[in-house]
Amino acid sequence: MSNAFSNLGLGVGLRPQHFSYLLEHRPAVDWFEIISENFIDSGGRPRYVLEQLAETYPIVMHGVSLSIGSTDPLDFEYLRKLKSLATAVDARWISDHLCWTGVAGRNTHDLLPLPFDEATLKHVTERVRIVQDFLERPLTLENPSSYVAFRQSTLTEWEFLSRLAEATDCRLLLDVNNVYVSSVNHDFDPREFIRNVPHERVVQFHLAGHTRMSDHLVDTHDGPVIDPVWALYREAVQLTGGAATLLEWDANIPEFPVVHAEVLKARSAELGARSTDGTSESSPGSSALRAPSSALPHPLHHVTAEVQ
Ligand SMILES: [Fe+2]
Repeated sequence: MSNAFSNLGLGVGLRPQHFSYLLEHRPAVDWFEIISENFIDSGGRPRYVLEQLAETYPIVMHGVSLSIGSTDPLDFEYLRKLKSLATAVDARWISDHLCWTGVAGRNTHDLLPLPFDEATLKHVTERVRIVQDFLERPLTLENPSSYVAFRQSTLTEWEFLSRLAEATDCRLLLDVNNVYVSSVNHDFDPREFIRNVPHERVVQFHLAGHTRMSDHLVDTHDGPVIDPVWALYREAVQLTGGAATLLEWDANIPEFPVVHAEVLKARSAELGARSTDGTSESSPGSSALRAPSSALPHPLHHVTAEVQ
């Protein structure tokens, strides 16, 4: 793997709520992940803050609009903007999700699951190659959380990801919380997912909180990471040798030190110091224990309104 994908340490998603704090305090966070769409068209304060931070912190770009699985044509104007921003902030890598977000020019503003079959694999493989050729760098793809699945799928999600990575040489962003959420929603063993992705291609982890509904989990990014997800993360670190780790907190966002402290718990997870039973969701403050509100946060709430 290229040095461009070195382990950056423990990072935090850059959110406007923290701009003033970050400029004033310059906290000792290892790196920031930005939502690409929040900056590709913006000037003004967001771009100013980003450029200030990019002078001293590594920046990784994370997008939500690539729609790599759609049958719509790829948006080369969007890709051009991504490439330009990556150059401007010296982005270490560019990621998006293994999903589709719309079709026939309509954007659902959601990260929708794909059928995991041979025809879809061929389609996505061709598009990843085109995107990588255009960006002149490997793409990094994340496993999204999902709530429905296609009956026509003949592969597991981890088999699909493995074959896609092998065919395209793309890298993987393993969202450990998404693995957990999907495993509950689709009744599979999350450890099987973690154990069967190609570990040498995992360049980044995501951690986040979620919300338990009556019979499924929702990927709300609105609270701390629960113990079973930490247990999965610890196993993933052991299997991969560790990779840049990012905490996503996108609704009910607390002060920056609280968010930063949550990702710093990964240090003890990396050292194997946390509980290993991985079966309880009873940790204090667990998002899974909070009563779900009628208006659940949406994982894409962190995309500013003007780009939706
Ligand atoms: Fe994620």
